[in-house]
Amino acid sequence: MGRTLSLILALLSAPIVLIAADWNILYPKGKQPKHGVEFNLKNYCESWRMNVELHNIREFEVVPEECADYIGKYMNSVQYKVDSERAIEECTVFLSTSCGLKRDGRDAWIFDVDDSLLSTMPYFKKHRSGGEKLNLTSLEEWMSNAKAPALDHTMKLFNDLKERGVQIILVSSRREHLRSATIDNLVDVGFYGWTSLILRDPSNE
Ligand SMILES: *[C@@H]1O[C@H](CO)[C@@H](O)[C@H](O)[C@H]1NC(C)=O
Repeated sequence: MGRTLSLILALLSAPIVLIAADWNILYPKGKQPKHGVEFNLKNYCESWRMNVELHNIREFEVVPEECADYIGKYMNSVQYKVDSERAIEECTVFLSTSCGLKRDGRDAWIFDVDDSLLSTMPYFKKHRSGGEKLNLTSLEEWMSNAKAPALDHTMKLFNDLKERGVQIILVSSRREHLRSATIDNLVDVGFYGWTSLILRDPSNE
């Protein structure tokens, strides 16, 4: 279960996580590798995104500036929807086959909140799709308004799990002071009936 979950989490939340290689430094304009494959900025950005999702690229703070537009377009594309739906379908297949639910009331599934259940797209749309350094104060202000939309494809999985009697545990890097706003937001868009919401411990802040 853990692996499938991390797959979907990676897929759903990678594009907005935020120094990766600098396109301009690597390949100044018109100076592409002589013997390698010729490629353009779109190829570069697509490869960057995929390697973030594969967790080969980690701990970057911003989306490479050259790729901010590309990431913004991807997040609004049909491809993103198809990718997300596929991730959810794979989870559903896993749930129905090799997951091995015990059905003793103690089966549990863990979801992240941001970009798994709730979308942070409206915020990042206004902040260059992650192409600028994250301002936590401003992101938290946005979160405290409790207006994040639901991710519909995850809603299906969420409800499917509930119907199967699986406990749902939510784990988020949001801080405690956002607890009530987070609960309001979740319930408001239709995510209710989960068992617990674990937020970042103040000692971890
Ligand atoms: C971060 O956001 C807050 C709240 O919107 C704003 O007051 C502050 O100036 C921002 N900080 C930076 C470094 O942009």
